[in-house]
Amino acid sequence: MTLATADNSGRVSARIVLLKGVDENGFRFFTNYESLKGAQLAAHPQVALCFHWKLLREQVQVRVEGEVETLSAAESDAYFASRPRGSQIGAWASLQSQSLPDRATFEQRVAEFERRFNAGPVPRPPHWGGYLVRPDRIEFWYGALHRLHERVCYTNKDGVWERSLLYP
Ligand SMILES: Cc1cc2nc3c(=O)[nH]c(=O)nc-3n(C[C@H](O)[C@H](O)[C@H](O)COP(=O)(O)O)c2cc1C
Repeated sequence: MTLATADNSGRVSARIVLLKGVDENGFRFFTNYESLKGAQLAAHPQVALCFHWKLLREQVQVRVEGEVETLSAAESDAYFASRPRGSQIGAWASLQSQSLPDRATFEQRVAEFERRFNAGPVPRPPHWGGYLVRPDRIEFWYGALHRLHERVCYTNKDGVWERSLLYP
C-alpha cells in the first residue's frame, strides 16, 4: 500500500509499505521508527493509505485516512520473530533513510550484526516495530465504463460510521 506522511512544514512524503494486518481496529505495518516516515509520524500522526487493484472489476482503489499509534512491544516482537533471519539482521544493520556513503559500509554492518548474534536468536531492535492506522475515512472507488466510476465513502464521526456517495 502507499503510505503518505507529512513533516512539520507540511511537506508530504509517500512510499510503499507492506500491509501486515487489518481488522476492526485498523491497518498494521512495520518499519524503522527512526526512518524518515518514523520521524514524520512522531511529528504528525495523520496518514493516508492508498491501495490499487488493477485487475479487480474495472479497477478498484481504496483510500484510507486516519491517525497512527505505535503497536505494543509484544505485538512488534511477535511479528519480528516471524521474519526470516536475514530480514532480522537487516533491521539491525540498516539505519533506514539515513545517508549511506557506499554499499560496502552497509555490508560491513550486516556482517557485524551477523557476528554479534552468531547462531543465536535475533531480538527486535528497539528502533523497529509496528504502527496501527486507525481510520476515520475510507473510500472505495470502483471503476466503470466511460469514467462513470462509483465512489463510496465511509466517515467516522464520534464513533459512528456514515456512508455517502461522491461524484467520480
Ligand atoms: C513492495 C515494497 C514493500 C515495502 N515494504 C516496506 C515495509 O513494510 N516497511 C518499510 O519500512 N519499508 C518498506 N518498503 C520500503 C519503503 O518503500 C521505503 O523505501 C522505506 O521504508 C524508507 O522510507 P522513508 O525514508 O520514507 O522512511 C517497501 C518497498 C516496496 C517497494
